Amino acid sequence: MKRALITGITGQDGSYLAESLLSDGYEVHGVIRRSSSFNTGRIDHIFDKLKLVYGDVTDFAAISSIVAEVEPDEMYNLAAQSHVKVSFEAPAYTASVDAVGALNVLEAVKQRSPKTRLYQASTSEMYGSSPSPQSESTPMHPNSPYAAAKLYAYHMTRSYRDAYGLHASNGILFNHESPRRGPTFVTRKITMAIARIAAGKQDRVVLGNLDARRDWGHARDYVEAMRLVIGMDAPGDYVVATGQQRSVREFVDAAFHAAGIPIVWNSARDTARDALTDEVRVSTDSRYLRPNEVDSLQGDSTRLRKATGWEPKTSFEELVREMVNADMGSVR
Ligand code: NAP
Ligand code: GDD
Repeated sequence: MKRALITGITGQDGSYLAESLLSDGYEVHGVIRRSSSFNTGRIDHIFDKLKLVYGDVTDFAAISSIVAEVEPDEMYNLAAQSHVKVSFEAPAYTASVDAVGALNVLEAVKQRSPKTRLYQASTSEMYGSSPSPQSESTPMHPNSPYAAAKLYAYHMTRSYRDAYGLHASNGILFNHESPRRGPTFVTRKITMAIARIAAGKQDRVVLGNLDARRDWGHARDYVEAMRLVIGMDAPGDYVVATGQQRSVREFVDAAFHAAGIPIVWNSARDTARDALTDEVRVSTDSRYLRPNEVDSLQGDSTRLRKATGWEPKTSFEELVREMVNADMGSVR
């Protein structure tokens, strides 16, 4: 039986990845953080099948002993302070988790279990202001503390591969969403708000920059790509993306459409009204803007597709519909 170890197992991706590995017969170990409230909501349905241990990637001693104890065949470092806007408010904390935390994982594997294959959760955010479409050869110009910390982890992963022969790979994943997405990321914020609007519990959703463009896929498809990357004979760095781009405004449109609430935009004011009731359903507020924005992300994942045959299975419309339906179903 193969053993996998996941940091960040309680997050969106960790939960889908754990499900996928379990369904292939893996023994799945996960590192969870001590919290004053429950943080296992995304993995409660598989809780009994997992082997969980408390730990934190900033704590080298803990991570090192977990790696030595488990000696996993595969390790996925998904742990991160993953919110870009928060990283402007907590840059040093973000660096210690996303940069030094990743270094701790690399050192632990190098020292205690060098045969372990390692996957590092790198991100399209590292491209920052580089023009799209972005591929593995596009220069990286990080625009946020989060992106800069992740870029350090990306380079250290490459460096440990080259210097010490570790099977360590970067997946450079573009935005991926799901009904399990954290509620402060824009897609989930929108779909949760729409469900509450439909139920008469909220009148509008207040957003920041509606013109940012992202390449949005489904997290379920992207964890399959992670497994293909780590499963490759030779380690390497791979972009994972749908190749299609939409603006935040287009996501808003598609989500209201999926909920059956027709909206009409007033572009000059960045607002949208309910076509039936004339109430404002979307407005903007500068408190949701970032000090520096990434305007346009669109990935070219040709390298991964050619090497493994990976393709995203979920269309943009299906993703939006699944998220809206899930949130509509859970509003009480
Ligand atoms: P997420 O939902 O925010 O999950 C982050 C996970 O990391 C959670 O389990 C969290 O634990 C854990 N964590 C945070 N700080 C930690 C620490 N110091 N030690 C141990 N665990 C810690 O993120 P996600 O969307 O699943 O993304 C997974 C990874 O992929 C992240 O590294 C993210 O930066 C990266 N990524 C995400 C995307 C995307 O679009 N989703 C794209 C590219 C890259 P709690 O549950 O206790 O908070
Ligand atoms: N969160 C948020 N909230 N974003 C908003 C809002 C709002 O109210 N209004 C507009 N946006 C815009 C942001 O300015 C950004 O341009 C875009 O919506 C997407 O924001 P997020 O959903 O927060 O995601 P992100 O692109 O900043 O970061 C995500 O994707 C990265 C990969 O490119 C995160 O998952 C990162 O962890 C990941 O690395």
